Amino acid sequence: MSDDLAIEVRNLVRVFESRKGFFFGEKNRTEALKGVELLVGRGTIFGLLGPNGAGKTTLTKILSTLLLPTTGTVRVLGHDVVEEASWLRPRIGLVLGGERGLYNRINARENLRYFADLYGIPPVERDRRITEVLERVDLTWAGDRRVEEYSRGMKQKLHIARGILHRPEILFLDEPTIGLDPKSARETRKLVRSLVVDGVTIFLTTHYMFEAEELCPQVAVLSKGRIVANDTIGGLRQRVGGDRTIEVEAYGFEDRELSLLRGLPGVSHVTGEEFGPRMRLTLRVRTWETTPEQVGLLLPGHPELSVRERRTSLEDVYLDLVEEEAN
Ligand SMILES: Nc1ncnc2c1ncn2[C@@H]1O[C@H](COP(=O)(O)OP(=O)(O)OP(=O)(O)O)[C@@H](O)[C@H]1O
Ligand SMILES: [Mg+2]
Repeated sequence: MSDDLAIEVRNLVRVFESRKGFFFGEKNRTEALKGVELLVGRGTIFGLLGPNGAGKTTLTKILSTLLLPTTGTVRVLGHDVVEEASWLRPRIGLVLGGERGLYNRINARENLRYFADLYGIPPVERDRRITEVLERVDLTWAGDRRVEEYSRGMKQKLHIARGILHRPEILFLDEPTIGLDPKSARETRKLVRSLVVDGVTIFLTTHYMFEAEELCPQVAVLSKGRIVANDTIGGLRQRVGGDRTIEVEAYGFEDRELSLLRGLPGVSHVTGEEFGPRMRLTLRVRTWETTPEQVGLLLPGHPELSVRERRTSLEDVYLDLVEEEAN
């Protein structure tokens, strides 16, 4: 494997098996990852996008040696996550976030002291390092406050402080901004960006395309256990048909009309959504051949028909990718 790779995943499958029912006779089998292939370079922020249940946390846990692969090979920093887990662990930071993993009854410094001891940070260095990371995540002012008094955003920052305490070479962040208000989310993203300047490789998962766009030069989209795209943001924008989106709204459409729209020149996608009594169709259009006026002419006899054109957002591209997989 080449030295500039931080992550190398080959044909990774992860199956969860559990038993349920009378005397646990029924077997429940979930294939959370179905042959994932992924390469991530060092010194960058890599974004993994995907809807609920796509397998993001499962992949993050395997990469950070918390969970074993069922089959396939996974190397991080050039080392196998199964065979060389003990070499890897001190070099990896993992932030799963949420309410778990912090001690509420003690203050932030005491929490970090506990983890510093776990990581084997020498006592002479420990308190200096704790001061450094608290400063880094902008929590110096609250270092002596008990964690139970912390807001969600402050807890998230403390999770990150904990994740970087032992100066990992690679940091895994599972949905670092989930549940944060826009200001705290922005501060967290700023913090993430600042970490990469120090040479840390960052692998983060998110549901939000705009977050990936803001932070990540390269992103992969995971859907139902499969990578359905792995590209730059610009590349992603191009993959799913041109740059234009036409939205059509009315009180319902006939199948015949849908076929007509699908058959228009340059139309690569037609998706529908209900809005109470109204229905909105979203057309992805690749060329200039089809205009909103032409679409309107194809749909006579609709009271209050609305046709408008807007720029295709990255969120649209993401939803197209995830939907393509679902169909
Ligand atoms: N310990 C487990 N036992 C059984 N099934 C599991 C377990 N952990 C995850 N799964 C299943 O694996 C699939 C992927 O779950 P995972 O948590 O990795 O998704 P995710 O992309 O992180 O979703 P979310 O966005 O909701 O966090 C789901 O179908 C989930 O139910
Ligand atoms: Mg998850």
